[in-house]
Amino acid sequence: MGHVMKLEGIEKNFGSIKALQGVDLEVREGEVLALLGDNGAGKSTLIKTISGIYPIDGGQITVDGKAAQINSPKDAMNLGIETIHQDTSLAPDLSIARNLFLGREPVTIPALGVFAPLDLTRLKEEAAKLLKRVGISKNLDADAPVASLSGGERQSIAISRAMQFFAKLIILDEPTNNLGVEETNGVLKFIREVREAGHSVIYITHNIHHVMNVADRAVVMRQGRIVADLMIKDTDLLSLEAIIMGAEPEELAAEMRGKAH
Ligand SMILES: Nc1ncnc2c1ncn2[C@@H]1O[C@H](COP(=O)(O)OP(=O)(O)OP(=O)(O)O)[C@@H](O)[C@H]1O
Ligand SMILES: [Mg+2]
Repeated sequence: MGHVMKLEGIEKNFGSIKALQGVDLEVREGEVLALLGDNGAGKSTLIKTISGIYPIDGGQITVDGKAAQINSPKDAMNLGIETIHQDTSLAPDLSIARNLFLGREPVTIPALGVFAPLDLTRLKEEAAKLLKRVGISKNLDADAPVASLSGGERQSIAISRAMQFFAKLIILDEPTNNLGVEETNGVLKFIREVREAGHSVIYITHNIHHVMNVADRAVVMRQGRIVADLMIKDTDLLSLEAIIMGAEPEELAAEMRGKAH
């Protein structure tokens, strides 16, 4: 199976804090990769380097077999990488519908380029469809400003955004944190749909049940480094939890073998 992205020796420092210390990681085609680790392990920092928020201090990013320079979120999007950040990046004063399309709104006369008038009817129709798909049960007015929404509702809007552009690699940084049950199930369903379509997902979460449920592979970070890389079918919930909490994967495996005898 090919890979959509390859990271080699990624380094990122914040002053004297070494947030990423030589991260090597391949994201394979059509996989759901859970990126795990305790608070402060470096997960968000890693995905911010991939999505053009932070420049890297060392290492190399390869996308589709070519060395990639990702210096802005736009660069990342152009490479087919769509990210939902932990602290979502919506424009609070714009309507829900506008936020869903931000910069990529349907227009009435595309030939006019940036001056083309927005197709507001289509915008609202598409927005309503998307909201339904992500599992927003409440009847939201697509014309309402995002500032009028709860944290969870905003998160859902950001996820709907990623859904429609159907990027090759979708990165979700703790997307279900502020969500209710129905919205959370909507996100997990979306992750499965992305994989079925042959696209890849990096899913950051502290919820191991979700990991066991939707992920194909789990990568665990600790202090800016990757300390474990496991196929979900070869591990279990308790082992994963133990590794996140600081157990050494090799010792854990030896222990499990011991128990089997
Ligand atoms: N903008 C920043 N300036 C300075 N230090 C930062 C910045 N962003 C992150 N850090 C530091 O880098 C380290 C990694 O943080 P990061 O946010 O990547 O962790 P995380 O794994 O996403 O944790 P969490 O699970 O709590 O979201 C931490 O020590 C954090 O304090
Ligand atoms: Mg984080």
